[in-house]
Amino acid sequence: MKTKQDFLRGISLISDTTDVKATRVGNKPPSGEGLSPEPERILPVRFCYVPTRSIVSAMDNLDIKLRECAAASLAGVAITSPEEDEVISRVCEFAVKTAPYLSRDGGNPRRVYVWHQSTGFRRYGLYERQGENLVPVETMGEEDDRTLACRPLSGDENTIECDDYDDIFAFIRDYDPKASNAGAIFVLCDWHNYIGSSPNLEPSTLDAQKVLLSETSKAGSNKTVIMLSPQRWNIPVELEQVIRVIDLPLPDKEDIVAKVNYYVDYFRDNLEAFPDKRPVAEMSEREIEELADACAGLTLFQMENTLLMSLASCDGRFDREFILREKREMMKNQGIELIEPKFGYDDVGGLEPAKAWARRYRNRFTQAAFDYGFTRYPRGMFMTGIPGCGKSLMSSVLCQEWGMNGIRIKASDLKGSLVGESEQKTDNIIKMAEANAPCLLVVDEAEKMFASTDASRDGGASQGVLSLFLTFMQESQKGVFVVFTLNNMSALPRELIDRFEGRFFFDLPSASERADIFNIHISRFNRDPANYDIEDLVSKTDGFNGRGIEAAVAEAFGAAFADDGREPTNDDFVTAFDVIGPAADQKTIESLREEAKAKQLMTANRPKPASEQAKAEPMDFSRI
Ligand SMILES: Nc1ncnc2c1ncn2[C@@H]1O[C@H](COP(=O)(O)OP(=O)(O)OP(=O)(O)O)[C@@H](O)[C@H]1O
Ligand SMILES: [Mg+2]
Repeated sequence: MKTKQDFLRGISLISDTTDVKATRVGNKPPSGEGLSPEPERILPVRFCYVPTRSIVSAMDNLDIKLRECAAASLAGVAITSPEEDEVISRVCEFAVKTAPYLSRDGGNPRRVYVWHQSTGFRRYGLYERQGENLVPVETMGEEDDRTLACRPLSGDENTIECDDYDDIFAFIRDYDPKASNAGAIFVLCDWHNYIGSSPNLEPSTLDAQKVLLSETSKAGSNKTVIMLSPQRWNIPVELEQVIRVIDLPLPDKEDIVAKVNYYVDYFRDNLEAFPDKRPVAEMSEREIEELADACAGLTLFQMENTLLMSLASCDGRFDREFILREKREMMKNQGIELIEPKFGYDDVGGLEPAKAWARRYRNRFTQAAFDYGFTRYPRGMFMTGIPGCGKSLMSSVLCQEWGMNGIRIKASDLKGSLVGESEQKTDNIIKMAEANAPCLLVVDEAEKMFASTDASRDGGASQGVLSLFLTFMQESQKGVFVVFTLNNMSALPRELIDRFEGRFFFDLPSASERADIFNIHISRFNRDPANYDIEDLVSKTDGFNGRGIEAAVAEAFGAAFADDGREPTNDDFVTAFDVIGPAADQKTIESLREEAKAKQLMTANRPKPASEQAKAEPMDFSRI
């Protein structure tokens, strides 16, 4: 373990380093020392390779923010992103490409030091592959769009062991841009463990960070400290003034297409070396786009791993089905289900006003709607009501009929036991949905998301989640259509309900709707409903919900099948009705209806024949 003395020697070594000169592209790399990295042995399809122009448009944002922070002389930047390698690459690019043009940096690129707990600080740089060699790149024009690698520099002088906070802060504080003739950017990885609610954090450490960052800012020096975390920041008040928080979204389609294109180009250019990768080299633009759609919602790191797995498992192909399967699996682990829609409007009995509303709002996702004057996509549909009356069914029908991806989450899965966990999960879901946009984000049992307002019991999670959702629904322009399904809306604040354009109450099906539902479910057994006395069945199922009718049909067919596989009769249905019973007790139903009335929801049902053209309208309670 290094002593403080060694540590300080490390700093002077770095300050004295003379071989860190701008090495122009095309120069031979210094052999075996200094900037020359280990030779690259693996396929160049790992994350360390970044096309420098169009990598991550989400990360273009990072460039702009870094520039702003440098201009405002703000030393501390806290970034939320699961893409550690991408951020480091981007920071290195900023250091070489942008920093020299900042007046404070006097034409010099900045150095980048990345700190990990296990390695201490390591200096990073950009490299270009030239044949077998990697050549350091220390100057770049603004239009430079070479594909470069970002790697730690070899050599002892480029590694600074840091055993504790004091070491880390001392290194940053004592780094002298003048002596080194270069400003610096210090990237502290997983720094959320050392800031915020970390139980091990001593107040003096917070103070040390505050002093360091404010002194650095005041000095107007060309030093920037970037704190990196895969999760949302919880910056303590002491540090709020000296840190700018930047939240990076997941890669968008453009980012993903750029990444896929990188592989396609690489294999195309090196087909002789990789003849088995011909299917990738020959991908059409359309196939690349479809692949990008399948990858939406993954981080670039996850995406690259999945693509590499696909190469290995699918005969050198990027297989869309394989990737979707892997993505589904990864999402399941996070409590997210990708909706696989099976049903359309015709599979929903009744509910005409809700269907008419959905038909109408589909058009709002078209260019024509924007040309007409709408400035944003619709926000969402809110469905509450009596259990088993088709709310979840309707949400997957929307995916099918609107031809959109759908993500389903159960609100109870968002609840975390740790402080800040619920917000973190919610934030992840929102980012995931935005990356998949335009898409539907279906939240089942939505009331559970905001159930507790007792801040002392859940660390204020419900309030935190609520404010995240309110902001997201208000501000997001990406085209995420939020669908809430719930049974009890008393816990939901009015300002949230008001965000949804479509607010529906799903009541028990009327007689004509029950007839439709019987027809649908009997047809699913490949039988002609005309062979049954539907009117009689309808008259005996007052108070049943759609789920009850579906179950009764299954029960009747089950009984008949058990009895020598004969055809079910009306009597089988009547027996099944006794087994299943009505949906809920009258008191519960009444109170749900009362609440819907008070909140002026539209009715999803219409007690008229399904064939009639229907339109959503305020609830008609006269039939209750
Ligand atoms: N209007 C309907 N038409 C056809 N089938 C229906 C209808 N309503 C309900 N069903 C059947 O009942 C099942 C359960 O409905 P669904 O899950 O949509 O109810 P829900 O309103 O979401 O209930 P919960 O409040 O308990 O979540 C559906 O899968 C479907 O098969
Ligand atoms: Mg449901």
